[in-house]
Order: sequence, then structure tokens, then C-alpha cells
Amino acid sequence: MRILLLSALVAHASATRLLDNNLVYRSPFLKDISLAHDTPAIQARHIQHVRRQMSDAAPFDDQHYPTFYGADFGNSPFIWTGGINFTHSVASGDPFDTSVLLWTRAVPVSPSGTTQLPDQSVPVCVAYKISTSPTLEGRIVDSGQAFTSYDVDFTVKVEASGLKPDTEYHFQFSDCSSPSSVSPIGKTRTIPNPNTPANQVNNGHPLTLAVFSCSQFQAGWFNAYGFAAHNTSAQFFVHLGDYIYESLGNGAAIGRQTLGRELATIHDYRQRLNQYRTDASLVFAHQNAPWITVCAGFDDHEVADNAWKAGTADSNDTTVGCSFSASGACFTDRKLAAVRAYHEWMPIRQVDADDKFRIWRNFQMGKLLDLTMLDTRQYDRDLTDVYYNTEFVNTIADFSNRSLMGTAQEKWFFDTLSESRARGAVWRVVGQQIVFTQLNESGSFDLDAWDGYRANRLRVLDHLYSNSIQNTVILAGDSHANWVSDLARTSLDTAIYQVKLN
Ligand SMILES: *[C@@H]1O[C@H](CO)[C@@H](O)[C@H](O)[C@H]1NC(C)=O
Ligand SMILES: *[C@@H]1O[C@H](CO)[C@@H](O)[C@H](O)[C@H]1NC(C)=O
Ligand SMILES: *[C@@H]1O[C@H](CO)[C@@H](O)[C@H](O)[C@H]1NC(C)=O
Ligand SMILES: *[C@@H]1O[C@H](CO)[C@@H](O)[C@H](O)[C@H]1NC(C)=O
Ligand SMILES: *[C@@H]1O[C@H](CO)[C@@H](O)[C@H](O)[C@H]1NC(C)=O
Repeated sequence: MRILLLSALVAHASATRLLDNNLVYRSPFLKDISLAHDTPAIQARHIQHVRRQMSDAAPFDDQHYPTFYGADFGNSPFIWTGGINFTHSVASGDPFDTSVLLWTRAVPVSPSGTTQLPDQSVPVCVAYKISTSPTLEGRIVDSGQAFTSYDVDFTVKVEASGLKPDTEYHFQFSDCSSPSSVSPIGKTRTIPNPNTPANQVNNGHPLTLAVFSCSQFQAGWFNAYGFAAHNTSAQFFVHLGDYIYESLGNGAAIGRQTLGRELATIHDYRQRLNQYRTDASLVFAHQNAPWITVCAGFDDHEVADNAWKAGTADSNDTTVGCSFSASGACFTDRKLAAVRAYHEWMPIRQVDADDKFRIWRNFQMGKLLDLTMLDTRQYDRDLTDVYYNTEFVNTIADFSNRSLMGTAQEKWFFDTLSESRARGAVWRVVGQQIVFTQLNESGSFDLDAWDGYRANRLRVLDHLYSNSIQNTVILAGDSHANWVSDLARTSLDTAIYQVKLN
């Protein structure tokens, strides 16, 4: 009763509060409704279009849902009370030192004995709570409620705050209208405060990052995720991109076939993410550790093969923003759909309210390290190798005006490296999508990697060398192989580079 009353009071202040609590409606970009949702419009729809008691309801088994905000029926939506299925367990991600994002999916259950979809105009309400207790029986550190609906594929993303740095937490969602109906319990943690001395991070125990890339559903079971979650002590799971693949495939040998078609529309991307997240190892890994995919979650295949800022190999638009691919979708629309579905399904934040595609950002994990995540793929990348232009890209690969990140991100990257050194962090770990080192495979180079942007690579090395920034590790995904290289900038590099420029 007290909770309902409180809701009524707060609701008076903001009728869309419970929609806004679900960050999925606001991501990735609140200011552009092609990339977010107009929550006042959804709230108005909920109030106007649900069936209210206008006819006799005996027996009382039709869709007469309870209103949610108590006395103020002027803006009170009905909520779904027919049961929730937490179809994809729980996940968490993008940890700060005092907050973390919690994720679930709350699908209304069809009325028993039917497969009919429940009334789609009714919001589904979930509650969440977080505690240091593995059974959530101890003190609840933060809790709240949020709505979801078909507009966001019934996904839920809330921010739990007021947490202690470098601390493990447990969390759970439940059905507001039936609190005993609960999701699995998830495990997550915050990152250390930036000033925590290096030897005190993770209570003085080694800090372990589990790093992934290139996970293709039909190509194999995701037991690498399961191994990291079950058999290692990794505190944070970092994904460097190609979390899904847009292409079709039939892994006949293991009996896994991708559903749908080559991804182009919002339905396609949602369906693919949904299917990937049925893999038991992936579900377990999301349930048991916070993921940092914010800045590296995108490589090409989250949109389409060999993507750059204005096209992909598939849509074959090398100079203009919008040409049509084999799938029939304009590249721009395809990218919007991919980005939106990704933000629905992944526990990632909107980084900058004024920069809609920005996912590059930095995590200061005490004085031990800076985890700097870049977008070398989608954000502002100049033309890449889209197969028919390989020879051409080869002739421009050395141009100093070619950029993988765009000017703004490159400046931010260099500043972040310098700041990391200045604040005394021991390590700099850079998470990004594509292979940084030069890989000379019998005279040919992967021009879709940093080898296609050589002057940009030298700018990075120059910045590290001229500012005496030590202990920098650059991680990469994309290449389906395990390479380890010493990134020393030798005088030979300089010589080769200068010869090529000449
Ligand atoms: C809940 O969702 C799971 C996964 O989609 C499904 O297997 C199960 O049958 C659903 N349960 C109900 C009661 O709808
Ligand atoms: C990993 O953990 C699982 C679950 O605890 C266990 O069954 C398995 O044997 C472990 N594998 C290895 C290689 O340690
Ligand atoms: C893509 O466009 C280029 C340049 O117009 C053309 O040469 C090439 O054949 C096209 N490729 C495909 C697959 O349509
Ligand atoms: C980039 O630099 C190359 C080589 O200096 C030059 O030929 C080309 O015109 C430049 N492109 C742009 C867009 O400035
Ligand atoms: C790449 O390797 C080939 C031999 O396979 C060699 O001829 C060439 O000089 C190398 N290129 C660079 C830039 O090191």
C-alpha cells in the first residue's frame, strides 16, 4: 500500500517516470526519435487505448488490468497482470564506481491455454533490487520499478546507483503486480574508485578481464563464454565486437541454424540478438559478470560486413550515405536498426547526450589501469576495403588524412592516454575492434584493419613515444586468430613509412 501511494505521489510529478526509468526507451539517443522513443506519446497511448470497463465484465476474465498510479486516474495506465516470462534471464554492464546497468527482458505470458499475444497496448511493470547478499535477503541497496512494452522488444535496462566501489552485488527483477514472480538472480560488480591505489584494486587480488570477439552462432557452441564464467575468476567481461553476425548460416554439424534472413530491419536484428541469447553459456556469462561492450560492442558484423562510416561491403555504397543493399535496406536505415536493437539487448549506456553514435569511453579502474574503449569501425571511419576497391585502398592506405576514428575521437583518445599517465595509472588497456599491428601475409595486408590506415597507426605510436607513455596494451578482435605482437615503433617502421610516402 505504501509503495503504491508513493508511486502515486511521484507519478504526479512525472507521468512518464516509469517509462523513463527503463533506459532502453532513451537509448541510444534521446534527442532523436529515430533512435529513441517519445515516452509522453507512449504514456498517452497506454492511457487512451487500453480497454477500460465500459461493458459488463462477467466473468471477470477479460483484460481489465489494475491501474497503476493509485488515485490519479487522469494519467494512470493499466498494467499487465497476466504473468511475466523473464525469457532471457538477466545481465549487467557498463559498471561505474557507484552504479551499474541491470538488464532483463519481461515478456507478457499468453493467457493460459492460448498462444494469443496479450493486449499489446498495456505496459509491463517490473521491479528490481540489488544487494551485496547472494540471496538478496540482506539490506537492499537500491530498488525501483520500470515499464517495458513491445516498443522496445520487452527489454528492460535500469541503472542501479548508490553502490560502493569495487564491490560485488547481486540483483533480481520481479513482476510489480505479482512480486513472487521473479527473474534469476544476477551477479555484478562496480569498478574501483579512480584513486584506489593499484595494489588495493580488487581487494589486492589480481584483476582479471575476460576478452571476447567474433562469436558466430552457427559456427560453434559458445563454450568460451561458459568457460570464462564457470572456470575463471574474471571480474569484467569485455567484448571487442562481432557479438552477432548479420549473415545467414547453417551450422549443420552442430545443428545450429540462424533464424530469419540477412539482417536489415529492426525485426531482423532483434530476432538475431534474441536467438544468440538462447545459448546457455552466453546467458550464464551475462548473468554472472558485468560486461563492458559500450565502446567496443560494435565491429562490422553488428551492422554488416566491412562497415565504415557511410557504408559496408554489402550495401556497396562507397561515396554516398544511402544506397540499397541486396537486402533492400538503405545503409543508413540498416545502421539505425542495428544500433537501436543493440542498445535494447545490451547493458550499455548512452555516452553523450549530444553525440548519438558515440560509444567510445574510458573506465578508470583505480590506479591500476585505464580501460579505454574505442570505436574504430562505425563512428567516423574513412573508406575501407569493400572488396572491389582493394587496389584503390592500397594506394591510399598511407595517406595521413585517412582516419579510423575521426578527429574528435582521436583527440579524445590521445588526451585519455596522456591523462592516464598523468594520474599515475600503471597500465593502459585499449579495447578496439581491428588488428593494430602490421601483419604482412606474404606481401598482402588486411586493409580493413590498421594496415589500411598506416599514418593513423603511426600517430598513435608517436603519441605514446613522444609522451613517454609506457605499459600500453592494445586489444583487437575481428581477425579470428590469436596474435601477440610487440608494438615497438622501430626506426625501420619509420623508414618503410617514409619510403612508401615518397
Ligand atoms: C518462457 O520463455 C521461454 C524462452 O523463450 C520459453 O521456453 C518458455 O516456454 C516460456 N514460458 C512460458 C510460461 O511462456
Ligand atoms: C568448468 O566448470 C564446470 C562447472 O563448474 C565444470 O563442470 C567443468 O569441469 C569445468 N571445466 C574445467 C576445464 O575446469
Ligand atoms: C559495387 O560498386 C562498384 C563501383 O560502382 C562496382 O564496380 C561493383 O561491381 C559493385 N559491386 C557489387 C557487388 O555490386
Ligand atoms: C588526402 O591526402 C592525399 C595525399 O596527400 C591527397 O591526394 C588527397 O587529395 C587528400 N584527400 C583529401 C580529402 O583531402
Ligand atoms: C612483406 O613481406 C614480403 C615478403 O613476403 C616482403 O617482400 C615485403 O617487403 C614485406 N613488406 C613490408 C612492408 O614489410
